[in-house]
Amino acid sequence: MVRTSYFSQISVVLLAILFARIRCSKPHNASQEQTLLSIQQLLYYPVVLSSWNNATDFCNTVQSSSVTVICYEDVVTQLHIINSDKAPPLPKDFSVDKLFTTLISLPSLKVLTMVSLGLWGKLPGTISNLSSLEILNLTSNHFYGSIPPEITSLTDLQSLVLDDNKFTGWIPNRVGFLSRLSVLSMKNNSLNGLLPKSLGSLVDLRVLILSHNNFTGQVPDLSSLSNLQVFEIEDNSLGPSFPRVTNRIISIVLRDNKFTAGLPEEIHSFYQLRKLDIALNRFVGPFPNSILSLPSITYLDIEGNKFTGMLFEDLSCNPKLQFVDLSANLLTGKLPSCLVSSVARNVVYDGNCLTVNDVNEVKVKSQNPVSFCRNQALAVGVIPRHHMSGKKSNVGLIFGIIGGVLGGIILVGVALFVFSHVYGKKMVKKPPPRVIAENGPGSYTSKLLSDARYVTRVMKLGSLGIPAYRTFLLEELEEATNGFDTSTFMGEGSHGQMYKGQLNDGSYIAIQCLKMKRNHSTQTLTSHIELISKLRHPHLISALGHCFEFYLDDSSVSRLFLVFEYVPNGTLRDWISGKYNGRTLSWSQRIAAAIGIVKGIQFLHTGIVPRLFSSNLKITDVLLDQNFVAKICCYNLTLLTEKIKKVQL
Ligand SMILES: *[C@@H]1O[C@H](CO)[C@@H](O)[C@H](O)[C@H]1NC(C)=O
Ligand SMILES: *[C@@H]1O[C@H](CO)[C@@H](O)[C@H](O)[C@H]1NC(C)=O
Ligand SMILES: *[C@@H]1O[C@H](CO)[C@@H](O)[C@H](O)[C@H]1NC(C)=O
Ligand SMILES: *[C@@H]1O[C@H](CO)[C@@H](O)[C@H](O)[C@H]1NC(C)=O
Ligand SMILES: *[C@@H]1O[C@H](CO)[C@@H](O)[C@H](O)[C@H]1NC(C)=O
Ligand SMILES: *[C@@H]1O[C@H](CO)[C@@H](O)[C@H](O)[C@H]1NC(C)=O
Repeated sequence: MVRTSYFSQISVVLLAILFARIRCSKPHNASQEQTLLSIQQLLYYPVVLSSWNNATDFCNTVQSSSVTVICYEDVVTQLHIINSDKAPPLPKDFSVDKLFTTLISLPSLKVLTMVSLGLWGKLPGTISNLSSLEILNLTSNHFYGSIPPEITSLTDLQSLVLDDNKFTGWIPNRVGFLSRLSVLSMKNNSLNGLLPKSLGSLVDLRVLILSHNNFTGQVPDLSSLSNLQVFEIEDNSLGPSFPRVTNRIISIVLRDNKFTAGLPEEIHSFYQLRKLDIALNRFVGPFPNSILSLPSITYLDIEGNKFTGMLFEDLSCNPKLQFVDLSANLLTGKLPSCLVSSVARNVVYDGNCLTVNDVNEVKVKSQNPVSFCRNQALAVGVIPRHHMSGKKSNVGLIFGIIGGVLGGIILVGVALFVFSHVYGKKMVKKPPPRVIAENGPGSYTSKLLSDARYVTRVMKLGSLGIPAYRTFLLEELEEATNGFDTSTFMGEGSHGQMYKGQLNDGSYIAIQCLKMKRNHSTQTLTSHIELISKLRHPHLISALGHCFEFYLDDSSVSRLFLVFEYVPNGTLRDWISGKYNGRTLSWSQRIAAAIGIVKGIQFLHTGIVPRLFSSNLKITDVLLDQNFVAKICCYNLTLLTEKIKKVQL
């Protein structure tokens, strides 16, 4: 009873407040009308505002595409004035300061669009007094000078559009304060300098367009912008590394910049990517053929780079591809028939060294001889190095050590071997549809759909502290190992040498160096890399990335470096045989290790597509990390031998 009366009292009060508001709001707000008429005057009575006069009821006029005033409770909250064609600058006595001081008397303004009105001058800092502003669009005017840093105090701003002006200077460093920003577009100005790092903290950012400016330097790390869909920076001087963005990106335009090096391996996982325009840069390295079959790609332009590598007639392409420009690169091989066949597609490939079976003679003639591409590839520095020629002397010793280690496999090792053998065999004989269903819907027709699924898997693993898979630069690996110094040499098996290295961030890595046979097709290599990149699990020594080194002459891969997480605590065998100062694992640690190994094997058998069966797991292939978590290593070694048939789809 008491409670009820209490609530009824409150509702009476609320009603009273509501009523009071309704009764107080006047149909017209004289000062606001005055403000709008002043704006009309300050803009020199543009034709689009010719209907405004002192009799206009601004809050109740019909909206048009060029002029819109929107009120909320009779207070102006949106003002759109849009000229269809870019107007010349307003007369000399136009004052942008006066205009903005007048606009400030509309303090509830949330949306301000003034397009093509001939506004000129420096954007005044008083804009920060429009503190409710959420959308600001000043496209196609003649603003110059720098963007006022005060603008970064408009913390409600969601959309900041300053396209087609003459702004100069840097983007304010504190742009990161605009934490709700989802659209930032400043194309076609004369902005310069470095892009502020704080762009990387705008987690709501969906669209970032900075094309046609004079920006220089490296694009800041945008990999935490998980909502970023459109990233366009055409016609600047940005580079050299491919920007770090998430795999949810939909459009990337890096055209006409200073990007060098290669494309990141992650690009295979950009399952939403529709438009990739990286034309007119200095990209080198092999063109990842799998881009053609990304699940969403419709527009691909790599014109005017130095991409090398072979195309194959039987490559698959996404049937939705509308536009492909491969021209002026160093591609060899045959134009994929999926590109030739479709007439609807706009496909350009002049100026490569392709073999073309095209009726169009002009295109056949516009190809260079293969030797041209080879020589050019040489000239752009895709050159093998010989740092490791001095390492041969250790080989005998290492073989001795490894032989000893292998010879010492004890009973548990045999048990594990038998276990994994039996387990593996069973899985081969009876491929279980159950498991696939566990991991995702139905069957996967496209290989890349499986990549899309892999994406979510990796994201889950993110919480396990394994960094995202990436491409390493050879320079980076050399730095990490002090030029592959002998002191970093860990051992050598039948599939190459292992080195221990330390990255710039202090983390340790293990690097496996594999010499490639010349006849190894880049295509199979790439699919192996794709598989290795998926081998990430708490009970696997996870692959962190890879690096290719190319042959001088035909730019095929000469060496492959695989980078793995480094695990410090030795092998399971060491800990069972008491090799670590006589210390051994407790019973529960042993059980935990055994369970971990089973989980790792289960992941290899069922957690990835294609599944991976390796039936020769040894106790020395199980390492322990700092928390005595068992991790299987060497699981991928069969990948690069002739036993590839073990990998099954
Ligand atoms: C009239 O508009 C101004 C801002 O333009 C506002 O401060 C004032 O409260 C409004 N008056 C009424 C009665 O709504
Ligand atoms: C409105 O403007 C006209 C001329 O433009 C003027 O004659 C008229 O007196 C003005 N009315 C008011 C109420 O200010
Ligand atoms: C803008 O706001 C600041 C403080 O918020 C105030 O001191 C200043 O007078 C305002 N400027 C104008 C033109 O209203
Ligand atoms: C800015 O306004 C112009 C004119 O209405 C419009 O065409 C453009 O799309 C707007 N820009 C953004 C990013 O909303
Ligand atoms: C940039 O703006 C200028 C002047 O408005 C215009 O002439 C030019 O076409 C624009 N360039 C691009 C690429 O939009
Ligand atoms: C870009 O910067 C360079 C050198 O700083 C200058 O020569 C060039 O005119 C600038 N271009 C534009 C469009 O501002």
